[in-house]
Parts: sequence; structure tokens; C-alpha cells
Amino acid sequence: MPLLCIASPKGGVGKTTLAANLADALRRQGRRLLAIDLDPQNALRLHFGVPLEERAGFLAGLPRGIAWRDAIRRTPSGVALLPFGTIAAAEALAVTAALEASPALLTGPVREMLADPALLVVADLPPGPSRALELLAPLASLVLVVLLADAQGVALVPEIESGRFLGLGGLAGPAPSRLRLVLNQVDQEARLSRTVAAAMARHLGPRLLGALAREEVVAEALAEQRLLLDSAPASQAAQDLRDLAQDVAAALPRVAEPVAAGWAR
Ligand SMILES: Nc1ncnc2c1ncn2[C@@H]1O[C@H](COP(=O)(O)OP(=O)(O)OP(=O)(O)O)[C@@H](O)[C@H]1O
Ligand SMILES: [Mg+2]
Repeated sequence: MPLLCIASPKGGVGKTTLAANLADALRRQGRRLLAIDLDPQNALRLHFGVPLEERAGFLAGLPRGIAWRDAIRRTPSGVALLPFGTIAAAEALAVTAALEASPALLTGPVREMLADPALLVVADLPPGPSRALELLAPLASLVLVVLLADAQGVALVPEIESGRFLGLGGLAGPAPSRLRLVLNQVDQEARLSRTVAAAMARHLGPRLLGALAREEVVAEALAEQRLLLDSAPASQAAQDLRDLAQDVAAALPRVAEPVAAGWAR
């Protein structure tokens, strides 16, 4: 406990970047962290310096019955990592089919992870609706929805607010405290970005948990397969990340609590 899901109706908004760097920032607060990649792109591992040729992973191994503890990688950051695994498209579809037939293949291991009261689990979801998000959102203490500070980001806000979030009925009517938004790639020098960020902050109030600056160092950190707080700790984006990690920590339950009631509470 607890589980933090990073999701978005839209692709390419920075979910994986946030999942990796937020896990690292929370780890630096002294927590034990496990980061799970639920996206067949298998990109989360790259932020943690795992070599491209290392293809093993948890979800990719599900149809073969891999044990999640055997798929864990220790990373230099101290964050434990469960990569998705590198697989062909047909195999990725087989994983989806396996989850469709037996949701417990994923929920069982995640419940085992959450049984450890001192462990914080961060899950990087694929873009848009997914079986993984449908299964994990009810177990999550917090779902962070990442949007860009642009017109499309604004257009998606009503979808999220209305409970049509990602088109998943299972997310209808979440307690507001468990569903928060994060704006990524805010550029204070760009008029539209600045205006959207201010309008979203006004409109969403505390439901907007934080915002991250658009800076080249963020993309460069990934190119170097490093974490932002290692590669550019003095950047605005790094400061934004530390602030966001504080706010995430404050929004998470402090002690173990049962999750059975899920979103209904
Ligand atoms: N704050 C930022 N400033 C600059 N570049 C960023 C920022 N956040 C993310 N990026 C870059 O944007 C690109 C997309 O980021 P990322 O892969 O994290 O998005 P995603 O939402 O996980 O994408 P997908 O939907 O494909 O999983 C990457 O090249 C990343 O380095
Ligand atoms: Mg991603």
C-alpha cells in the first residue's frame, strides 16, 4: 500500500516520464518504491538505465505464468522495477486476452504488492482506456491523469470531470480526492500554454495536483537514460517534480487501509 496510477486519455503527454521521475522523487523522500510498467511499449525501464537488449518483464511473461517477484529488477536509483517486457504485437494481444480471461493474473500480484504496508507502488499505464487501468484503478489510492497545457488538454477536462474518464464505466463517480490532474509541458514563455495553465488552475482548484515545466533537459534525461533529479537537479522541471512529489505524498494515505471499498468511499 498504496498504489499510484499514472494515466491519461491521450498518448505522449508524459505519463512514463512522470511515473519514472515521480517514483524516483518519492524514493528520495525515504519511501520504498516499486514501479510497474503496464504498457507494451516497455519504455519505463529506459528512464532507469535498463539496457535496450534486456527484454524480460512481468506482463509480457503473464501467459507463461511468470512470478512477479522473479521479474523485479533492482535499479541504481533504489526504485524496484517491474518492466513490461519486450514483445511482438501478437504477444501483446495475447497478454490482453489473458487479462480478459483471468483478471486475477494482474490483480492477484498487485494485491500481494499492496499487502506490504511500507511499499508505494507506482503504475505506468498505456494511453487511453486499457484493461490494466480498468483493473487497477479500483485498487488505487490515487490516479494521476496527465494532460498537456494546450487546447486538447482543455477539451479533455470535461471527460475526466464527468466520470466518462477514458470511456471506462468503472471510473464513474470517483471520490475527487482519488482522481487528480497533472499538467505537463507548461511553457511560461508561450502565450497559449501560460493561459491554459492559469485557466486550468482556476477551474480545477485542488483537483489540479501540480504542473511540470516544458524543458529540454526532461527529454535529454531520457536520451541519457537518466532520471531528471540526477541529470538536471537545478532545472525548473526538477523543482516542479520535487513539489509534485510532496503533494502526491500528502495526498496518499499515511497508514495501511483496506482498499475493498475502492472508489466508492
Ligand atoms: N516536461 C517535459 N518537457 C520536455 N519534454 C518532455 C516533458 N515531459 C515529457 N517530455 C517528452 O515527451 C515525450 C513523451 O513523453 P512520455 O513518453 O513520458 O509520454 P507518455 O504519455 O508516456 O507517452 P505514451 O502515451 O506513448 O505512453 C518524451 O520524448 C519525453 O521526453
Ligand atoms: Mg508512456
